[in-house]
Amino acid sequence: MTAYETVLVQQRESNVAVLTVNRPDKLNALNAQVIADLGNAVAELEAGSVRAAILTGAGRAFVAGADIAQMATMTPAQAKAFSYAGHELGARIENARFPLIAAVNGFALGGGCELALCCDFIYASTKAKFGQPEVKLGLMPGFGGTTRLPRRVGPGRARELVYSGEMIRADEAERIGLVNRVLEPDELMPAALKTAELIATRAPLAVRESKRVVLRGLESDLVTANELEAQAFATLFGSEDQREGTSAFIDQRDPTFTGK
Ligand code: COA
Repeated sequence: MTAYETVLVQQRESNVAVLTVNRPDKLNALNAQVIADLGNAVAELEAGSVRAAILTGAGRAFVAGADIAQMATMTPAQAKAFSYAGHELGARIENARFPLIAAVNGFALGGGCELALCCDFIYASTKAKFGQPEVKLGLMPGFGGTTRLPRRVGPGRARELVYSGEMIRADEAERIGLVNRVLEPDELMPAALKTAELIATRAPLAVRESKRVVLRGLESDLVTANELEAQAFATLFGSEDQREGTSAFIDQRDPTFTGK
């Protein structure tokens, strides 16, 4: 595995990887290097045997947003390219062949909140703070905040967060459905690892197809989404793991999944 300048990658024996944005002195702000490193790290993991991953931040922040120092001098053309780079990273995470859990340990602001939203779901520490503060800087969300946030929490809640720029605490984020679980700080990673390790024991193709169909289905009408589900459901019946999983149940033994 490549050593990245701004992202630490830990691959565990359980086929789970932990990605840590590692720029703590700048609260892990997303500059071009972090965006490139994260995208490359996810791509590299996709080529390997990882079955679930956790995305977190080093120090007291998850990610405190896109790098304001870098954005301060951008031209409109550079800003557009920066937004596209953020979207590309978001799509890579969202479409990754394995689920990612965002373990939000601290500030998840602007691009940090948007990055967490690209993960399959979010666990947060009681110290986490979420928000889209761009309007306080004369900006607006540029990495998917106007698209994924309303889809996750509903348009009314998303509008309030985006137009006010106010931060919310983890318990409020859980209440509005942005966060699945709130945990004490020292329980965040153990809980995220436990869930990731559980996912990693499940049939990989079944998890991958479920992830793909949920994502595509959310963007489709119900008839199309159900059709996608039926096709993917059928595809799994051509897999070795479908035979292994169902026979193991009948034989009353634990299945051994190979991802085939
Ligand atoms: N971009 C670039 N640098 C950032 C940053 C960002 N989004 N967020 C924090 N930093 C840097 C600070 O400039 C500071 O660097 P310095 O020590 O070299 O001066 C360092 O990270 C620590 O931040 P600081 O502001 O001193 O910490 P704090 O505890 O007082 O405040 C925040 C924490 C998160 C409330 C505050 O840093 C903040 O508001 N950050 C910007 C959040 C934001 O607007 N994000 C959306 C950007 S579009």
